[in-house]
Amino acid sequence: MRIELQNLSKSFGDKRLFSNLNAAFEPGAMYAITGKSGSGKTTLLNCITLLEKIDSGVILYDGKQMQNLSHSKQIALYRKTISFVFQNYGLVDDWTVAENLKLPLTFNSSKADKRESINKTLELVGLKGKDQMRVYSLSGGEQQRVAIAAAILKDAKVIFCDEPSAALDLENVQLVLNILDVLRQQGRTILISSHDANVVSRCQNVYQLGNSKFLKLR
Ligand SMILES: Nc1ncnc2c1ncn2[C@@H]1O[C@H](COP(=O)(O)OP(=O)(O)O)[C@@H](O)[C@H]1O
Ligand SMILES: [Mg+2]
Repeated sequence: MRIELQNLSKSFGDKRLFSNLNAAFEPGAMYAITGKSGSGKTTLLNCITLLEKIDSGVILYDGKQMQNLSHSKQIALYRKTISFVFQNYGLVDDWTVAENLKLPLTFNSSKADKRESINKTLELVGLKGKDQMRVYSLSGGEQQRVAIAAAILKDAKVIFCDEPSAALDLENVQLVLNILDVLRQQGRTILISSHDANVVSRCQNVYQLGNSKFLKLR
């Protein structure tokens, strides 16, 4: 899915985060949005995913203008095509891994099918056999990978990942980026916000946010 941003502007009070921001994100590519802490990276991801309202501009998903869709159509788009891996992972802490991963699966698949796809996906993210563990008993790196497993199970066309390395050591950062890169090769559009050079160096495309400007670094 292709995402295009035209003349996006957003301020909080008199703090301007970006104005007349233009960019396009293509399927099969991975984008880093970098910039200092407080520069507006999370806000930008929230705006693109309609979790936060923009002041002006246009957001297009495959050429369709999102803000003009009805609320129920927006929710449908979100359900079907977008996965957001939040900085704090967005998991239910005292549920098991499997319970969390059942959420993105559709109602019409059987119990056995669900179990099989959950276990297959856990293997893919290096968490084989952890399905019955409670989320709070996992390390930050493991929780991050459960959140990515949820994105994979949802079969999202677009994956947003906010500061994936915030709680990870270098080895786990590489593991998570390897998984994201496989998803990219499958044709998904991947947007990652990060101020970490290790993350940014793995992305083919890099934008920098700062002083309300959005520069394409590569
Ligand atoms: N809901 C909000 N209301 C007011 N100010 C906010 C809100 N959300 C974020 N901000 C401010 O906007 C700026 C950018 O925040 P954020 O998008 O989280 O930056 P980053 O992710 O790059 O660290 C910060 O100064 C932050 O305090
Ligand atoms: Mg942030």
